[in-house]
Amino acid sequence: MWLINSSIGRKVVMSVTGLALILFLTFHASMNVVALFSAEGYNMICEFLGANWYAVVATLGLAALMVLHFVFAIILTLQNKKARGTDSYAVTDKPEKVEWASQNMFIIGIIIFLGLLLHLWHFWYNMMWAELSDPTAALTSVPSPSDGYAWIVWTFHDQPGAPLYSLLYLVWFCAIWMHMNHGLWSAIQTLGWSGKIWHNRWQCISFIWSTIVVLMFAVVVIKFAIWG
Ligand code: HEM
Repeated sequence: MWLINSSIGRKVVMSVTGLALILFLTFHASMNVVALFSAEGYNMICEFLGANWYAVVATLGLAALMVLHFVFAIILTLQNKKARGTDSYAVTDKPEKVEWASQNMFIIGIIIFLGLLLHLWHFWYNMMWAELSDPTAALTSVPSPSDGYAWIVWTFHDQPGAPLYSLLYLVWFCAIWMHMNHGLWSAIQTLGWSGKIWHNRWQCISFIWSTIVVLMFAVVVIKFAIWG
């Protein structure tokens, strides 16, 4: 199948899965902002996304997107290295206006992956997994697995090492910003939706979009880290 066998096909898979992940992040950041205004409102959303069959199906879909994005990133990176051959060891003149992020998408991706493991342990494991593996956990564990608001307070304010975790999250968000800022317009270009005029516009849209999403994440961490 051309999506797997050809180089452009693999780039299309990276672009489509990347755009879907950006939509997820946009939704996730908007949902988190609710925690700034209302604990009940945030927990209503968490309950809706908790251990229900449709939320579990969505989680599996999301996991599939992430695995595809990651596996194809490895394949494309190896393929690029092979195509460059021994050049990758030679001192080459880098084209002037190539952004740092564009050359380091894979490394930034690894940092994001490591941050995601920490995040899934903090939230997914303590919430969705706790409910799925033990339906009585809601009665016994503190905070309750359905109390997303309490888990935010615990993670960024109450738990031992909370300031360090908050800092790690902020570093993680910087990596996400770089990856998303480059990935969005780059995906649009791969899919052929960007011409001479729209190239600059998409770069501008990517900058604004990724900045807003990352600021929404960051403001939640900063608020809870300082005030609980
Ligand atoms: C302020 C920052 C963040 C907070 C407070 C937060 C909070 C949460 C919470 C409460 C859940 C559990 C939802 C539930 O099971 O009901 C969750 C799940 C998750 N979060 Fe975050 N999150 C943040 C940032 C991020 C970022 C930046 C990413 C991705 C790069 C991310 C990816 C995920 C994923 C993949 C899940 C599992 C989703 C699922 O079960 O379907 N989160 N997060």
